[in-house]
Amino acid sequence: MNLSIVILAAGQGTRMKSELPKVLHPLAGCPMVKYVLDVATQLEPTRLALVVGYGAQQLCQVLGDEILYVEQLEQLGTGHAVLQARELLAGHAGTVLVLYGDTPFITHQTLETMLLHHTEKGAAVTLLTFRPDDPTGYGRILRDGTGRVMGIVEHKEATSEEREIREVNSGILCFRDAWLWPHLEGLQPKHGEYYLTDLVELAVAEGEWVAAKEADAAEVMGLDDRVKLAKAEALMRQRINEGWMLAGVTLLDPASTYLEASVKIGQDTVIYPNTHLRGATAIGRDCHLGPNTIICDSTVGNGCVIEASVVEGATMEDDVDVGPFAHLRKGAHLAKGVHVGNFGEIKNSYLGPNTKMGHFSYLGDATLGANVNVGAGTITCNYDGEQKHPTVIEDDVFIGSDTMLVAPVKVGKGAKTGAGAVVTRDVPPGQVVYGVPAKAKEEAGKVGKE
Ligand code: UD1
Repeated sequence: MNLSIVILAAGQGTRMKSELPKVLHPLAGCPMVKYVLDVATQLEPTRLALVVGYGAQQLCQVLGDEILYVEQLEQLGTGHAVLQARELLAGHAGTVLVLYGDTPFITHQTLETMLLHHTEKGAAVTLLTFRPDDPTGYGRILRDGTGRVMGIVEHKEATSEEREIREVNSGILCFRDAWLWPHLEGLQPKHGEYYLTDLVELAVAEGEWVAAKEADAAEVMGLDDRVKLAKAEALMRQRINEGWMLAGVTLLDPASTYLEASVKIGQDTVIYPNTHLRGATAIGRDCHLGPNTIICDSTVGNGCVIEASVVEGATMEDDVDVGPFAHLRKGAHLAKGVHVGNFGEIKNSYLGPNTKMGHFSYLGDATLGANVNVGAGTITCNYDGEQKHPTVIEDDVFIGSDTMLVAPVKVGKGAKTGAGAVVTRDVPPGQVVYGVPAKAKEEAGKVGKE
């Protein structure tokens, strides 16, 4: 099918009372307009344009340059907004579908059904209607005695009798391309606005067929204030959580599990209450996450356990266990079988396979080999007040409790540090050092406790 799609997103959304354009308000961590763009893309349109106005620059920045933007400099109504896309979309025999950027629940299936109905009926215009609990503010659908659509009357202009009509315009419409553009140009303003909905009456007057399909209210409800946004957030969370449960992930308490739309989770993973998975996060199979865990922009392998911890920009290979109360920061990379216990903080560091860091330690800008034991209270002193310095700890090293590693410093394979050592110089492989500053047994001689 030759399909052009135009998504309207130029309005400010005054009821949001926000500096942020309405369509950039996030739902499950993703700007609401992204959901509409994704559904539109699934329809495989020949052309797709996004009409932007208020906060146009912000929108372009967030959504990137793969989208065709059309700027509506003044917000003169929905008819005027669609007209801005004429140059980009007109002249292709086919269908033009109009979507709104603030209806993120619209599904691909509903739009497919509507488009099919439009083609089958040979209609000039097809409307997607719905019946909200409260129709205030919406355009009412006018039908004749036989049920045929005759027009849309906007709330502002409707008589009290017309305001009793429960069926309203969702704003999603499709048009026969060749009919739309010339008629759009001829629209006359009302209260300074060009109403796209006026085209319905025009089509009827010309003897064209106007078709309509009714949608589920939950799919087409626009989100124009923060009360609706909060309800939508809960609905979107439910949709996402159910999707993962059906895909084989156990959520002990879906109502307190917060999974952003961008997250991926492997089968048989179990998620405990009050767990938040955010951003570009991918979780493997058979993991146990939470309770009380936040994981953001991180990759977690299979069979990992993360309890009551915060993980940001980190990578964990398989069978890693972390927490409770650990903090993994950007660039933390834990190889297979690593254990990080309570009150550990790791930043920009690699921990080799089976390395253990059991209790309240800090590793920053460090590279640790395999089977290292990091004793309780170990600190990499990586910052001298001006610059960050690296620490290298090779395989099989034993770092005694409360060791300070003053970077830059390297501890060779199989070396050991005594409890409370302050390591200021490189330690050769196999050597045991202790004291302040740390020295080898032979060197320490008289000053050290032997
Ligand atoms: C419109 C419909 C109304 C329908 C309602 C559903 C018209 C005249 N009225 O109402 O029948 O029941 O939607 O929500 O079409 N926009 C622009 N540029 C503009 C004006 C609006 O891009 O100049 C965009 C907005 O960003 C929004 C959408 O169009 O995404 C709808 O605008 P809004 O002002 O919310 O709808 P109404 O015109 O009140």
